[in-house]
Amino acid sequence: MSQTYFKIRVNTILPTRPTSFDVFIMINGKHVHYLRSGELLSATKIAHLDKADVFYVPDTQRQEYKKYVFTTLNDGALDVKTKAQILRESSLTLAEEIFEQPDVEQALHESKELISNFIEFMDEEPSSMAHLISLSAHDFYTYNHSLDVGIYSLGLGKVAGYQNEDLLELGRGALFHDIGKRNVHVDIICKNGPLDDVEWAQMQKHPLYGLKILTEYGVSEAMKACCFEHHESFLGNGYPQQLSGPEIHPMARIVAITDTYDALTTKRSYNQPMSPRDAVEFMSTKLKGKYDADLLKAMNSVLFKMEKASA
Ligand SMILES: [Fe+2]
Ligand SMILES: [Fe+2]
Repeated sequence: MSQTYFKIRVNTILPTRPTSFDVFIMINGKHVHYLRSGELLSATKIAHLDKADVFYVPDTQRQEYKKYVFTTLNDGALDVKTKAQILRESSLTLAEEIFEQPDVEQALHESKELISNFIEFMDEEPSSMAHLISLSAHDFYTYNHSLDVGIYSLGLGKVAGYQNEDLLELGRGALFHDIGKRNVHVDIICKNGPLDDVEWAQMQKHPLYGLKILTEYGVSEAMKACCFEHHESFLGNGYPQQLSGPEIHPMARIVAITDTYDALTTKRSYNQPMSPRDAVEFMSTKLKGKYDADLLKAMNSVLFKMEKASA
């Protein structure tokens, strides 16, 4: 059987630390051996690469790569910003897998470790959230969005008092909240500009598609709710079930806020991003009543922490 590979981002490898796995690059559709396990990614090699480039590592060496990232995150000599970058970049490839790989089970499994890493990092480094978010390219890709909604939800969830297993499930639910978009045509997902009625009807099906996917894999009720209920509105005019306030799962209320917040603050081709404060202000006034009012207030304190950290 031919070898299979998973993608990693170039900038998750530190030039000062030898790799503990083999690295391949793709040339003309073929995987070419680029770096042997134990070798350094030298500055001259990096200079030839684009920051957004990806490397490939054999699936059989997944554990070695994870260990490498884990060791880096626990290196006392590295600053928070570098660690945050590595954590984010190493996670983006998983977020991509959620949407691109056929194996949802593998992604669900991997997400436990990924969200735990985020929780641990955020516990140890109070300023980490600002760094984790500010690293986002602010381009609208579903997987960037999913990861950011995951990070914001952990931040808001912590302020709301969630911890341990509950916080983990909230983070995972937020990470998978849009998984149903796998079943919506990519032309609709990537369309620049408003959707027509037919396209909009398709798009509105993604919570249900997501629920179906997650149900197949037997995940927690909380995770399913984050996915199925994140477009519900406190006023009862959301979709797909038109639930109102108290009927909406508390974790889905968090995702509803972080999802909209991320959409408003992210640059898309047809709109300019709002500042964090403006976005929350907009949600409290123009979208008044749509969200859990206490949680929306709590979102302000999350932003306050972020501002303080990045000041
Ligand atoms: Fe959604
Ligand atoms: Fe979303």
